[in-house]
Amino acid sequence: MPAAAPDTFREQAAAALLTARDRTLALTGCVDDNDLKAQHSPLMSPLVWDLAHVGNQEEIWLVREAGGRPALRADLDSMYDAFQHPRADRPALPLLSPQQARAYIADVREHALDVLDRTPLEHTGGRGDTLLGDAFVFGMIAQHEQQHDETMLATHQLRRGPAVLAASDPPPAAVDPADLPSEVLIPGGPFVMGTSTEPWALDNERPAHQVHVPAFFLDTFPVTNAAYRQFIDDGGYRDPRWWSDDGWEHREQAGLEAPLFWERDGGDWLRRRFGVLEPVPPQEPVMHVCWYEADAYARWAGRRLPTEAEWEKAARHDPAGDRSRRYPWGDDDPQPRHANLGQRHLRPAPIGAYPDGASPQGVHQLIGDVWEWTASDFLPHPGFTAYPYKEYSEVFFGPAYKVLRGGAFGVDPVACRGTFRNWDYPIRRQIFSGFRTARDVEGVR
Ligand code: AVJ
Ligand code: FE
Repeated sequence: MPAAAPDTFREQAAAALLTARDRTLALTGCVDDNDLKAQHSPLMSPLVWDLAHVGNQEEIWLVREAGGRPALRADLDSMYDAFQHPRADRPALPLLSPQQARAYIADVREHALDVLDRTPLEHTGGRGDTLLGDAFVFGMIAQHEQQHDETMLATHQLRRGPAVLAASDPPPAAVDPADLPSEVLIPGGPFVMGTSTEPWALDNERPAHQVHVPAFFLDTFPVTNAAYRQFIDDGGYRDPRWWSDDGWEHREQAGLEAPLFWERDGGDWLRRRFGVLEPVPPQEPVMHVCWYEADAYARWAGRRLPTEAEWEKAARHDPAGDRSRRYPWGDDDPQPRHANLGQRHLRPAPIGAYPDGASPQGVHQLIGDVWEWTASDFLPHPGFTAYPYKEYSEVFFGPAYKVLRGGAFGVDPVACRGTFRNWDYPIRRQIFSGFRTARDVEGVR
């Protein structure tokens, strides 16, 4: 979403809402009603809750707040308020049926598009501090629906039973990773983190501010399944030396031995992916690991996780222009040749598959494929202001959550940029999470 004329924002908003809705309907249209109402894991909502929740958020923000119109179904607000009902309790609620939920979200959408058609949108240069400026609130709601589409994809991954989703395979490697250095030096110095000009950047990505990042080395690629297997084979899961105290306690209590969805097959490993059992592909980024596993692997490898500022500097800082860009490849919106995003493929691509998406310094696949755990807690940028509501980001700030960056194959481009911040508990691994490692440069800190 680069700077654009108001009419373009209107068109982009309509297109983003439509893309999100197509995906929502696809993810909820491929299973029967019982399946939509079932809870496939206590970590997740029934799919039919997500379905009506995206419509309820759209009603609240686009129809009532942006449009100033009367409520359609104010009686639904509390049932679909994520803060009033933890995920595990949602199946017991008197939820809308799948048919009622589909009718409700279609009705909301009609009103929302009418608001979009009739409301003047001013151009603010990406300040993100009014609902209508640059169509911010429409972008926010399209991103919200896409985030739930990713959550619903994770529910599909947890669901038992035969495969119901299909997609083409991602591209094979276009460069041989063995021909590239395994790590890249990012020189020390200041860079601009966060943004004050990206029209649809959410509150936690703001404002732009300068951060000094000492020189460090960063892996060229995310850590692969093959590399992670060496950690397993070397007894990494049985050696407390590599684990933080909290991490070891969790490993023991949860009985962690391998990434989620992996199972042993003699001396080999299989993984279950959207209902299909398959050999673990050695050249793909490892996924479904928690922060504690990523941290332990990094220590075993004699390395560490990158901080969030290091990750963003590697992804955005252009040393030639001495400025921060929107993506590793520049300021252009993601195209299929740049990154594995948008549920086009239902798996990460092998490393080396996206040379066109590499940063100027040669770091690959920062965007797409798998979310990357960073060392950092989820904290506000200096100068942060909650907008438009504290429950999007502010209530989550603190040491309980670790930051993930870069998006995954299940993330839509509208909800993915060099500044985008995701967060989760360090024990979570049902998300599409992987990582890469970093190290200090000797004598520099
Ligand atoms: C940014 C993925 C952590 O799912 O809790 C969805 C996104 N916020 N509805 C989440 C979100 C409100 C959020 N994450
Ligand atoms: Fe939500």
